[in-house]
Amino acid sequence: MKKNILVIYYSQTGQLKDIVYNLLQPFEREDDFNVDYYNICPEKPYEFPWSNSAFFDVFPESFQQIPTAIKAPNQDFLRQEYDLVILAYQIWFLTPSIPINSFLKSEYASQILNGRKVVTVIGCRNMWAKSQEKMRKLIAEAKGELVGNVAFVDRHLNHISVITIVHWMMGGKKNRKFGVFPKPGVSDEDIDNASQFGELILSSSKSNDYTTLQKSIIEKGGVNIKSFVILMDEKANKMFNIWSKFVLKNKQSRRLKLKFFKVYLIIAIWVLSPIVYVLFLVTYLFRIKRINEKKVYYSKAN
Ligand SMILES: Cc1cc2nc3c(=O)[nH]c(=O)nc-3n(C[C@H](O)[C@H](O)[C@H](O)COP(=O)(O)O)c2cc1C
Repeated sequence: MKKNILVIYYSQTGQLKDIVYNLLQPFEREDDFNVDYYNICPEKPYEFPWSNSAFFDVFPESFQQIPTAIKAPNQDFLRQEYDLVILAYQIWFLTPSIPINSFLKSEYASQILNGRKVVTVIGCRNMWAKSQEKMRKLIAEAKGELVGNVAFVDRHLNHISVITIVHWMMGGKKNRKFGVFPKPGVSDEDIDNASQFGELILSSSKSNDYTTLQKSIIEKGGVNIKSFVILMDEKANKMFNIWSKFVLKNKQSRRLKLKFFKVYLIIAIWVLSPIVYVLFLVTYLFRIKRINEKKVYYSKAN
């Protein structure tokens, strides 16, 4: 009997869609597997490219994981008993993006995920550790079983990737800024080679044994995470929690508060984070044990 795989995803620019399609190629080549794709569609689509105000406007709801309305999935997706679900998502403000979060908080999530094995696939800039923690919780609430995670990131320096992603998100083209900066986002090479992780997932799926899947994903370099980025992610989560609650508290001054938040973010990225980085380097040797423990913790599937 054929095994059924459901791929759930949302992709604004098409980057995550390309990753997912390449990753699934090994399954597509097998006669014993059937792959369905469920593209999450918010009732009100998010415009791309982003205007400056629209980009910051999604911050409070993204971070506080407030869902928006999504279109109902194809009824077949709700009826089918899938052997495996691949859940591909991007990160908005250190949190699973609003469309993905909205699906996971909808009635459809438990109908599809209850009792199912789930592999998450992330396509983001580089800051995904805390977001994956939120994802673990959402999957557990829908009674799914998370068995693996692959993270595709922009491998360039953190500050370079900030410049290039803004150029991409606001300009709409995944090309080099001024012809000198690197291309934004996940590299073409990493996108093209996504199928190597599909092979690993396929092998686990064939034997129905996922116990060593995450270990093999890590060995192949599928969990890209840097210690300093984890530190920034943790610190920024605390600040984003305060800011998002502050913005949501009172509707009238929302726009003004978001302008303040933008100024805060610019200062945090360009002034505070370099200072924290120097402190991080100076104290690195004293904290290496704790840093390595964190890396192991965030790299785990569950
Ligand atoms: C509003 C917004 C916020 C984002 N915040 C983050 C973030 O906190 N961490 C991160 O690594 N990437 C972040 N990104 C990048 C996305 O995760 C993703 O890589 C990019 O939007 C392309 O995804 P796509 O496949 O939907 O086109 C953000 C993007 C947007 C639009």
